[in-house]
Amino acid sequence: MVTYRAVRMGFGNVGRAVATLFLQRGTAVERDHGVAVRFVLVADRSGAAVDPAGLDLQRLLDVKARTGGVAAYPGGGRPGLSGAAAIASVAADLLLEVSPTSVRTGEPGLAHLRAALNRAMHVVTANKGPLVGAYRDLMRLAHERGVELRYAGTVAAPTPALDLARYALHGAVVESIEAVPNATTNYILTLMEAGYALEDGIRAAQDVGIAETDPALDVEGWDSAAKIIILANTVMGGDLRLDDVDVEGIGAVTTAQLTQARRQGRALKLLASVRRGPRGLHAAVAPTPLPVEHPLARLRNTAMGVLFHTDLLGDLLVSVEGDAPLGTAQAMLRDVVQIGREHRALS
Ligand SMILES: NC(=O)c1ccc[n+]([C@@H]2O[C@H](COP(=O)([O-])OP(=O)(O)OC[C@H]3O[C@@H](n4cnc5c(N)ncnc54)[C@H](OP(=O)(O)O)[C@@H]3O)[C@@H](O)[C@H]2O)c1
Repeated sequence: MVTYRAVRMGFGNVGRAVATLFLQRGTAVERDHGVAVRFVLVADRSGAAVDPAGLDLQRLLDVKARTGGVAAYPGGGRPGLSGAAAIASVAADLLLEVSPTSVRTGEPGLAHLRAALNRAMHVVTANKGPLVGAYRDLMRLAHERGVELRYAGTVAAPTPALDLARYALHGAVVESIEAVPNATTNYILTLMEAGYALEDGIRAAQDVGIAETDPALDVEGWDSAAKIIILANTVMGGDLRLDDVDVEGIGAVTTAQLTQARRQGRALKLLASVRRGPRGLHAAVAPTPLPVEHPLARLRNTAMGVLFHTDLLGDLLVSVEGDAPLGTAQAMLRDVVQIGREHRALS
């Protein structure tokens, strides 16, 4: 049995889903996989809750629901304790990072990842931001410290898209990747096909809780760009950053364009793609009319998918209906279990 003492930065939708998942399935994971997690510090914007013996996750969820902040945790609340100082304040071996994404600066997650890796802690993140700007640096740091940096939750989270590439494509070359990795824009485009104007589609996505209050990250294509960068850097050996990707969102797409595409036997999707070119990898995000027989064309509503074009295996599609914090939490749990198993095998 491996027991990790974990720090979690962020206690929003995903952070709370992680707590719920470990409450419900933690014992089964220990029994079946020999990996246990004891949360010793959880932080949000209020500060932190700390207990070196392990926080009571149900009590933490109750405190958050009642007061809005984990710093009100009875006996272990630390108002204002945050960032690298919080990570340094406890003995821990694992960071779970679920603070908000900034694709431009990577912060605050980037500082959290660096602090944890420098302390030789394994890191599991669902936050794309740090990986977009500093993928190679962070992987190098993890390697130097002899720890793992895993991020299955960052790309089409409920699917094993990155796990497939990590565990099942040995010996094959991924020649290109196409993806519909953003559920919110796919939902909006599906509504627009049914006649909604863009603004009404965005409002409807907000009403069902899948779009951010500020939907720019999704609508302008930056979330999709972040995901294709992570895929390209992980699976195709790239070193792409945000400025290397040609990004066009769905802001200028009209209902008439969608209707016309349908009439021509095509479905308009916000496609993220990367392919090998004469000057290295070329990545782009753009609204793209796909023939209806294209595997990604039939993804509707909140579905997401990643299509790997490989030399040995042909085309491999990984897709899922819907995007929810629990799927992301499960991806993070998967990462923790893999780290536990692989490091146990090494020791
Ligand atoms: N939602 C999804 O389904 C999904 C899917 C894949 C990936 N992700 C990624 O997962 C991450 C979390 O998403 P979410 O939906 O849970 O976001 P969220 O609901 O906005 O939660 C963010 C959490 O981070 C906390 N936070 C903000 N600044 C912080 C800081 N400096 N230090 C520590 N905590 C801080 C917030 O505190 P307060 O609670 O006090 O505001 C909140 O608890 C994001 O990076 C997102 O891109 C989300």
